[in-house]
Amino acid sequence: MDASTRTRSSSKKPKYSRFTQQELPAWKPILTPKWVITSFVTIAILFTPAGLLCLWASEHVVEIVDRYDDECLPGTFSANPESYIQSKNTNKTCVRTLKVPRKMIAPIFIYYQLDNFYQNHRRYVKSRSDKQLRDPDDADETDDCKPIDHTIGDAPIVPCGLVAWSLFNDTYKFFKGNKVIDIDKKGIAWESDKKYKFGSDVYPKNFQKGALIGGGELDESKPLSEQEDLIVWMKNSALPTFRKLYGKINTDLEANETITVVIQNNYNTYVFGGEKKVALSTANWIGGKNDFFGITFLTVGGVCFLVAINFIVLYVLKPRPLGDPTHLSWNRNQGAQ
Ligand SMILES: *[C@@H]1O[C@H](CO)[C@@H](O)[C@H](O)[C@H]1NC(C)=O
Ligand SMILES: *[C@@H]1O[C@H](CO)[C@@H](O)[C@H](O)[C@H]1NC(C)=O
Repeated sequence: MDASTRTRSSSKKPKYSRFTQQELPAWKPILTPKWVITSFVTIAILFTPAGLLCLWASEHVVEIVDRYDDECLPGTFSANPESYIQSKNTNKTCVRTLKVPRKMIAPIFIYYQLDNFYQNHRRYVKSRSDKQLRDPDDADETDDCKPIDHTIGDAPIVPCGLVAWSLFNDTYKFFKGNKVIDIDKKGIAWESDKKYKFGSDVYPKNFQKGALIGGGELDESKPLSEQEDLIVWMKNSALPTFRKLYGKINTDLEANETITVVIQNNYNTYVFGGEKKVALSTANWIGGKNDFFGITFLTVGGVCFLVAINFIVLYVLKPRPLGDPTHLSWNRNQGAQ
């Protein structure tokens, strides 16, 4: 019995390996003052110019933003905007003039911006059927789409769900004097979405036919993969203020030029206190106008620089021999007693 216990216990001994015994080669840096100061200075030297470069690039993006939901509401309806937006008989056309602050070089991107619109609400996000969007044989896969899943006659709605139903339906036309500025609406959605998520043989059916109209309609002769406005809309935004691409202008706009936007103010943001804006923006390597990276990099660079200065001052004014044991807390306490 003794012998068997011994063999069993000895078999439990872990197999020797350098990994389990933590004997792998390791980097064991000694954080000497010079080493620490050099690292902080290096980080400061790398991040400060990067931050300035990002701010400079962001500053060179030309942007025009115009809020129109309030201005496009006729005064007689200001107390009751919902009756204005829901009526079929009110005139929704609205003309705005914008001034180009600096020369804008093509391509100029047109966005619509919504504020206070929670596309990230859980019930909204889930109310869609990706299977149905992809495959014409899955038109009946509407289980996740409540409450916009079937017509009163029990025919499936394609595309079903709240996300598709609430499609943005304001339209913009741009004029320079009397001349129309062409808007290029091709290629505003992600290629991968068009290819893999929205079927080229799935056509809209029974869409926006219910009692309550949520938003835009779709052309039933075009497959979903070509309905780029829908694809852009259905890429849910994570934050309640968001911009989505409406189209592109492929001609330059000169400084001080006045352009006219003719808006069809259809979309009902009045019911939830939202805002609507139209934005024109150029882009460069940093994307649109965005100071976030610039400010972040400058903050990191600045903090590292201050810390480095602090350490240099301490190092010069109160140098200590490296590894002096008298500074250990227990030794220090003894010294005090
Ligand atoms: C646009 O959407 C609103 C809801 O936001 C709807 O009431 C209106 O009928 C729609 N208009 C058009 C022209 O599609
Ligand atoms: C635009 O207008 C400003 C002031 O009105 C003027 O200083 C500037 O030279 C103009 N720029 C162009 C390109 O006309």
